[in-house]
Amino acid sequence: MEMKAPRGTHDIMPEQSGAWQAVEDVIRRRCARFGFEEIRTPIFEQTNVFARGVGDTTDIVQKEMYTFDDKGGRSMTLRPENTAGVVRAFLEHRLYSGPMPVKLYYLSAPMFRYENPQSGRYRQFHQFGVEVFGAPSASCDAEVIALAWGLLKELGVEKLALHINSIGCPTCRMEYQKSLRAYFNDHLDTLCGTCHERLDRNPMRILDCKSPECKAVAENAPKMIDHICDDCKEHFQQLKTYLEVAGIPYSVDPMIVRGLDYYTRTVFEIISEDIGAQGTVCGGGRYDGLMRLMGGPELPGVGFAFGVERLLMVMEALGKLPEVDRTSDVYIASLPNDDARKKAFELCMTCRAEGIRAEIDHAARGLKAQTKYAGKSGAKFMIVIGDDELANESVRIRNMADGTEIESSMADVAKNVLSLIHA
Ligand code: HAM
Repeated sequence: MEMKAPRGTHDIMPEQSGAWQAVEDVIRRRCARFGFEEIRTPIFEQTNVFARGVGDTTDIVQKEMYTFDDKGGRSMTLRPENTAGVVRAFLEHRLYSGPMPVKLYYLSAPMFRYENPQSGRYRQFHQFGVEVFGAPSASCDAEVIALAWGLLKELGVEKLALHINSIGCPTCRMEYQKSLRAYFNDHLDTLCGTCHERLDRNPMRILDCKSPECKAVAENAPKMIDHICDDCKEHFQQLKTYLEVAGIPYSVDPMIVRGLDYYTRTVFEIISEDIGAQGTVCGGGRYDGLMRLMGGPELPGVGFAFGVERLLMVMEALGKLPEVDRTSDVYIASLPNDDARKKAFELCMTCRAEGIRAEIDHAARGLKAQTKYAGKSGAKFMIVIGDDELANESVRIRNMADGTEIESSMADVAKNVLSLIHA
């Protein structure tokens, strides 16, 4: 039987992992500048963390979770997203008793959703996300957006659109839901089976249905932004003001509702037109009721998550993927006898201790084969250890690009290679 990675999953191979690491480095440094610290939570949680946190009328909970009973008969779920898990950890470790706000990030964290795989949509994918707890002001919404927006700029991604919306608070939503129900009741025939169920329990979820028929009806539905209360209006106005202060262009998009139930007030998405239908690289918003819903104190939250694969796809489409040098600095070839091989091994270790990327042969191949390999591998410099070199304790360091050579005592090899690299 041919063994293959499961549908919707993919291997990140060495020719790609360098770009992942380079992007991750930029992200880590940026998060540190913004005062965020990393959190790593388990990739599976008790199912109710997501059923309750994400909301049991959402597509994610209803259709997309990888849920299983463990050997103890407990229902577990591979995390489809990370906000609920981070809130669970925040509560479990009682971070609420310390100073506020608490600013956390997770990076290249694997997520699992049983979706229809297509370009930019996978069953296992990775997220970079941030969560801030205990910061009610819209300035914090603007801060997380600024982190995301500036990251894209830092990575050289320019052609993007920030869409923002407010989906209000539970108080203003009650009134809104009434008018939404009335509207959808008039279009019952067009709605899919799942949306019929949603109509009673959570009509706002219909706005996020992926069926084309429901989408068409949803387009003309009453908009939350026209129904928000004065406090929510003021909060949204503040967000716009802070975005303007930060010089971040935005457009208000009343159609953004997001596919998770925990959002209140601010929701936003950053969209790229360069990667087709799955162009939302980042999505997030405020979730002031989630902590309470999950059994914790009344503490506001706000955050976002990037799909790392999508981020890299956008960068690739724009020719902005970091170039990663995968070649070694020096290849130390040797005659295939014990003395020469041991010396090559010793020099290789000395070079590596000095931060030089050095390689040797491990198959006792002849010098000709080693030289050929060094050329093919793209090594920048090469050293050959033969009988003369052993006798004289001296080698020549050859520049593979132009064939020039310099003489070096064995003791000074690392020092000389270093100065050649940095010349
Ligand atoms: P989300 O919109 O479900 O939000 O996912 C965030 C991002 O993850 C999306 O914008 C997309 O780039 C990526 N993504 C989602 N599903 C897939 C998939 N199947 N394949 C590839 N990439 C995907 C959340 O997950 C929230 N937890 C974000 C958040 C954090 N809100 C507040 N804090």
